[in-house]
Amino acid sequence: MECLMSDIDKDQVVGLLNRILEQELAGVVRYTHYSFLVFGHSRIPIVSWLRDQANESLLHAQQAGELITLLGAYPSLTIGPLLDSHQHDIGAVMRESLETEGKALALYKKLLAAVEGRSVMLEEYARQMIYSEELHAGEVDKMLRKPGELAAFSQSADS
Ligand SMILES: [Fe+2]
Repeated sequence: MECLMSDIDKDQVVGLLNRILEQELAGVVRYTHYSFLVFGHSRIPIVSWLRDQANESLLHAQQAGELITLLGAYPSLTIGPLLDSHQHDIGAVMRESLETEGKALALYKKLLAAVEGRSVMLEEYARQMIYSEELHAGEVDKMLRKPGELAAFSQSADS
């Protein structure tokens, strides 16, 4: 039988998956931390949104970890960098979320480039994650716009 993953550079792929795992685990901690610090009228939906993000990051971390062991490698027990800006207004939390999720997205894109045309399973995984992270970034971008403003937040920040 042909080796399942003969065409991929296993060290490179496992390295990227481990960085993804660390980044997603940092997301679990970050979103959970922020969820404790929401006060005011709109606390309930925002806390619930932040907890959903923590759960989604955990799911993403678990998916990356399962692929690492599928490849016969050892999953990292480190977590990615955590920055506490001590700015807990929702705008700052959203902007930081957009920035750190952007780092995870960049890792998934690197992974896609490393496996494209070489492993259908890993390629499918990377594409799904890019889809999900870009959708998420788009959602956060909408939350950063002022009501009535149509232009994307990221575009107005660039100009
Ligand atoms: Fe994620």
